[in-house]
Amino acid sequence: MAILFQENDRTFTLQTKQTTYQMKIDDFGYLLHLYYGGKISGNMDYLLTYYDRGFSANPYDAGNDRTYSMDALPQEYPTTGTADYRNSALVIRNYDESECCDLRYTGHEITKGKYGLPGLPAVYADDKEAQTLAIRLEDAVNKVQVRLLYSVLEEDDIITRSAQIINGGTGHVVVEKAASACLDFVAGDFDLVSFYGRHAMERNMQRVPISHGSQLIGSRRGSSSHQYNPAVIVAGRDTTEEYGSCYGMVFVYSGNFLCEAEQDQYNQTRVIMGLHSDLFHYALEAGEILTVPETILCYSDRGFGGLSVKYHHCIRDHVCRGAYKNSPRPVLVNSWEAAYFHFDGETICQLAKDAAALGIDMVVMDDGWFGKREDDNSGLGDWQVNEKKLGCSLGELTKKVNEIGVKFGIWIEPEMVSEDSDLYRAHPDWAMINPRRNPVRSRNQLVLDFSRVEVRDHIFEQICSVLDQGNIEYVKWDMNRSISDVYSADNRQGRVAYDYVLGVYDFLEKLTARYPHLLIEGCCGGGGRFDAGMLYYTPQIWCSDNTDAVDRLRIQYGTSFFYPMSAIGAHVSAVPNHQTGRGISLHTRGIVAMTGAFGYELSLGKLSEEEKEQVKEQIRLYKEYETLIGNGDYYRLSNPFKDAYAAWMFVSKDRRTVLLHVVMLENHGNMTVSYVKLKDLLPDASYEEKESKRCYQGSALMQAGIPLPVEMKEYPAYQFLFTVKG
Ligand code: GLA
Repeated sequence: MAILFQENDRTFTLQTKQTTYQMKIDDFGYLLHLYYGGKISGNMDYLLTYYDRGFSANPYDAGNDRTYSMDALPQEYPTTGTADYRNSALVIRNYDESECCDLRYTGHEITKGKYGLPGLPAVYADDKEAQTLAIRLEDAVNKVQVRLLYSVLEEDDIITRSAQIINGGTGHVVVEKAASACLDFVAGDFDLVSFYGRHAMERNMQRVPISHGSQLIGSRRGSSSHQYNPAVIVAGRDTTEEYGSCYGMVFVYSGNFLCEAEQDQYNQTRVIMGLHSDLFHYALEAGEILTVPETILCYSDRGFGGLSVKYHHCIRDHVCRGAYKNSPRPVLVNSWEAAYFHFDGETICQLAKDAAALGIDMVVMDDGWFGKREDDNSGLGDWQVNEKKLGCSLGELTKKVNEIGVKFGIWIEPEMVSEDSDLYRAHPDWAMINPRRNPVRSRNQLVLDFSRVEVRDHIFEQICSVLDQGNIEYVKWDMNRSISDVYSADNRQGRVAYDYVLGVYDFLEKLTARYPHLLIEGCCGGGGRFDAGMLYYTPQIWCSDNTDAVDRLRIQYGTSFFYPMSAIGAHVSAVPNHQTGRGISLHTRGIVAMTGAFGYELSLGKLSEEEKEQVKEQIRLYKEYETLIGNGDYYRLSNPFKDAYAAWMFVSKDRRTVLLHVVMLENHGNMTVSYVKLKDLLPDASYEEKESKRCYQGSALMQAGIPLPVEMKEYPAYQFLFTVKG
């Protein structure tokens, strides 16, 4: 039993293989948090301390007891108006404009399996893999009810949390803020590790102490954003990649989010993950429910590396879905950096012929095939094939490409509209524009109001009629601007940003149901919506518009803390690189791209004969190793922001096959030698390295490592395969 309710002391204990989470209902019906961390048994309520603390108020129920204060006690779901002055998980504005919600326990249920969330992506698991606890809380005055949901995936060391806010009264209330998870720590000093960035330079790691006051990261951009990823680590001050304890909080949502980390006056720590409270005033009429997207919690006592392996398993096996969940992804060539908007059907067929000759599986026709779209100033919203430009119908083009022996895919950007489009001319109110203001433009395009069903239905029909024209096996779903005019002509304003994201999910759910064999790759100007919510619909996401191999090392490093490598779209592009101007060898570009869902993004016809041979070899190697890359355990072996080299490895489930990738980042006169240590091998086994045929003991590879070659080259890269023979 993963979830246990102890009747006598009203304690809930959630057990996973290596972790324990505990909470209790106290004498006044408050739900207090007791413990989360490495596995323990017994009742942890001895951790709670009660002192008379000045200026920390006491609930009326406590009578003259000045030692009981919500301002000091660790809580599961803190609310405003209860004299807990720290950050709240829930803020309710009542019909009388007061802001108070005093939640007390009213009941609970423990059931088999994993809860699902209406309209939202969530971790899924069968009845043998998961158990669910739903705790009901209620404010006796405004009758707001909260259903706190916890699911435990015991074998995976994963606990998920979500919350449903229900207006159980007759009046109107407004949810001003709602989170799905709060972690309270009564003791300890922690760092907050988050991943910030910008377009073409996403997910840089930042580690800062959680200190007195509150720090927050989040997005108000309508998407989860390039700027802050909706996933954080709360780490002990001494925690490293290999050692020490850390907690992960991964928000399964693709829109505005808020993560707040705070150290309070008693040196206690609180971290909250949920919906952003800005641009959000969710009116709940009697009987209405708001579901807060879930947070995936995980604890590791084996540093960040241990945490990442657990998240990779969880997201790969319990978030990603569909035909490509576990099966090899096609190696593709994308037309974007090869031709941008300047192509016709012949260009695509030529790319397909070149692809076929090299062993590439699929050609993707990126932006520019529809409406009036010769640049990024027009055409979005008009999803009719530009047959004049292609020189044939889409059906014919697909057929030709297939006859060449290559699969075919296309790019779409369903959430957007250009002012210069037939759609906008016919339905200007379908764009998110406040009629009293001029819209804010970005990439010269506007956002369609996906909170409205008629808008989604129209685009859905258009996209389906395109996909039905031929054997289209892949779609790249893009979103190339942030939302600024948060306004809907036909929706309650305070909930537009949330309803927009649910609209995107609704569209994707319908699309995946109608085309179960279609591979969808997410994209948002590269990695601006790289989150677990999108991965529920699109098992891979274009990681960044930056294809420079050295920058990519760092972007992929940051992405790897939570997201599995199978989810990371990674392509070899041309040199000089279109984003940085850097010229890096084809070999190194291949090694870097061979870390995720592999492909090419260049004009294959411009490759020399020698380069073509190299590309063939890269594809052969990728196909040989793709199961290991896609499903093996991945470990970071260096920090490419600091170290002289970038190194990472994949190890098979049985630990007998190991693929090590290295890129040297520094080179100096009379260069010093770097040694890289491997991880998670069989200590007593003998591993043979494929090229040199040299054998190494597993323990030696882990304890002493191997010396890396010193070469007079810029960014040399190496791929080593180690296998246990016999
Ligand atoms: C975004 C994507 C690119 C490409 C262009 C097309 O920037 O990230 O890969 O598809 O849009 O306009």
